[in-house]
Amino acid sequence: MKKIVVLTGAGVSAESGIKTFRDAGGLWEGHDIMEVASPEGWRKNMEAVLEFYNQRRRQLLEVKPNAGHYALVELEKKFEVSIITQNIDDLHERAGSSRIIHLHGELLKARSTKDPSIIYEWAKDINPGDTCPLGSQLRPHIVWFGEAVPMIEMAAMETMTADAVIIIGTSMQVYPAAGLVDFAEKAKRIFYVDPKPAINYELSRAASLSVVAESATAGVPKVVKELLEQ
Ligand code: APR
Repeated sequence: MKKIVVLTGAGVSAESGIKTFRDAGGLWEGHDIMEVASPEGWRKNMEAVLEFYNQRRRQLLEVKPNAGHYALVELEKKFEVSIITQNIDDLHERAGSSRIIHLHGELLKARSTKDPSIIYEWAKDINPGDTCPLGSQLRPHIVWFGEAVPMIEMAAMETMTADAVIIIGTSMQVYPAAGLVDFAEKAKRIFYVDPKPAINYELSRAASLSVVAESATAGVPKVVKELLEQ
């Protein structure tokens, strides 16, 4: 076994203090998703969208990676590890993982609304009037509902080469991310670490699925230990 692909969702960052989306008290509870995370919402009320992400960006600067993130770095001692995350936080980067694909974008980046290739590292608020050199308003570099997921092909290719897959902290509801496990044709083992595991259609077909119904900080170190001791 050489290559491990890790698919993470909001649950891997929950114990760092970042709300998930669909748990009780989750992020979507206080918001209409389409108002703050869709192109229509942006057209209707840009300020509300900017403020939604400004609040999340400010919080991100206050939190730290947890034992789940750090355990994944340990895996790199013995395996080639690719993290494919639905999360827009930078906690995998700060923990020290070396290969990370952000399917839904990155909270600490901003981009031009005229030319999507104009992208900036951006750790402060994005305000109305913050523009790119072409004069267009900057937006969060995040994939909104209804927008394309440019990294999905690369993520699928990575998953096809995996000898093992570890899925952590995702409700497996949002496609195309939730369907990636279908590409894990080569994987001898598939682990799913989540206190409330949600076995979607693709997972129900997965060969040799090991469900670890625990939190990321408890479950991920156990899976990592088993793989390192193999
Ligand atoms: N450790 C591990 N998993 C946890 C923890 C924890 N401490 N706490 C909660 N979870 C699990 C929940 O049981 C749930 O399965 O994390 C998952 C969170 O699910 P969602 O809130 O739906 O988050 P996610 O699956 O990442 O959402 C996918 O939806 O809204 C969009 O773009 C957004 O990337 C997001 C996508």
